Amino acid sequence: MSDPGQRLRSSLTADAAAGSGADFDSPIAMEALRATRVLHAADQEPFPAPGRIRVITVANQKGGVGKTTSTVNLGVALALYGLRALVIDLDPQGNTSTALGVDHTVGTPSIYDALVGDSSLADVVHPTTASPLLRCVPATIDLAGAEIELVSVVAREYRLRRAIEGYVHSLPEEQRPHYVLIDCPPSLGLLTLNALVAGDEVLIPIQCEYYALEGLGQLLNNIELVRAHLNPGIAVRTILLTMYDARTKLADQVAEEVRSHFGDLVLKTVIPRNVRVSEAPGYGQSVLTYDPGSRGSTSYVEAARELAERGVHLVPESDPRPMGPPPPPPPATAPMPAIRPSSGPPSGPLPRAFPESDAGVLPVPTSVDEETR
Ligand SMILES: Nc1ncnc2c1ncn2[C@@H]1O[C@H](COP(=O)(O)OP(=O)(O)O)[C@@H](O)[C@H]1O
Ligand SMILES: [Mg+2]
Repeated sequence: MSDPGQRLRSSLTADAAAGSGADFDSPIAMEALRATRVLHAADQEPFPAPGRIRVITVANQKGGVGKTTSTVNLGVALALYGLRALVIDLDPQGNTSTALGVDHTVGTPSIYDALVGDSSLADVVHPTTASPLLRCVPATIDLAGAEIELVSVVAREYRLRRAIEGYVHSLPEEQRPHYVLIDCPPSLGLLTLNALVAGDEVLIPIQCEYYALEGLGQLLNNIELVRAHLNPGIAVRTILLTMYDARTKLADQVAEEVRSHFGDLVLKTVIPRNVRVSEAPGYGQSVLTYDPGSRGSTSYVEAARELAERGVHLVPESDPRPMGPPPPPPPATAPMPAIRPSSGPPSGPLPRAFPESDAGVLPVPTSVDEETR
């Protein structure tokens, strides 16, 4: 099957040669040009490699905010632009695995085997259809039982962290991933706790919709608890606004509120609501490969570029984990943060999670009726 980018380029060239009068300023031609740019990312300037391996936990206990979509498309964008990426699917639904074209039927070696069983991460890493630089650890439905099975496992909160460390150390430096992206399930149970203990940083996708900020206080509280007791390195470093609909005032209102509270943590790039983004997983693809010229695709490329540019200044020495020896085992009495399933909006002010941001209550939009259409 011929490369779709090649097909697009040939058809554009053919149009020009035939003097068809094709208007290269037209939206459709622009989209085609954008498509070739994304598809031929390898010919473009690669994204800069981070100063050290970045393990990014993509979390938000709300479902449907774009965690999986962002993990997949950021992972693909980083890989298409020359960086090695590993995506770990930590949601029993396995949607990340689906979107990356990775089998996740029962019996497939998966993250469950590394968390609950004795497999190393290397045993459960699969190639993806999107890019040779992108690998994926799929999740099968077995993972649904892991929350309960993990309860009796020694150092249960550290299972994923240990697995990632073992994997990184087993690889020669030139094969180690630059980025590890962990897609969390929509809850604050033991799986998400494992992801928060394993990560260096948290990326929170926030949907530009009514109730977008509900529950965020609880997530930030949990991150604080993990930082205090289990992983001093963890911090929210990135907020990504997703499903932005320019036609609604509400989307702008949410975006403004998020920016005023989180400041520079919010990526400048906003992911628009775009039907191609939601169609892509149905074809076992990311939007970058499914419809590279779409606005969904190009905005994920831009978001990934911003993410990559922010990683350049990370100092290798300051990283206590990936390149060094594994951390000592936790004390047997390591306190467990009170991680509970989501139960509605935060009742009080948000914790001062970020020294540089304003403390206070996140204003939650209270009226939507007249502002959406
Ligand atoms: N930018 C977008 N435009 C349109 N649909 C989107 C976009 N981002 C996500 N979606 C769709 O919204 C739904 C929820 O997204 P998903 O990434 O699965 O959220 P989560 O992982 O947080 O539960 C999915 O059906 C997905 O295809
Ligand atoms: Mg998901």
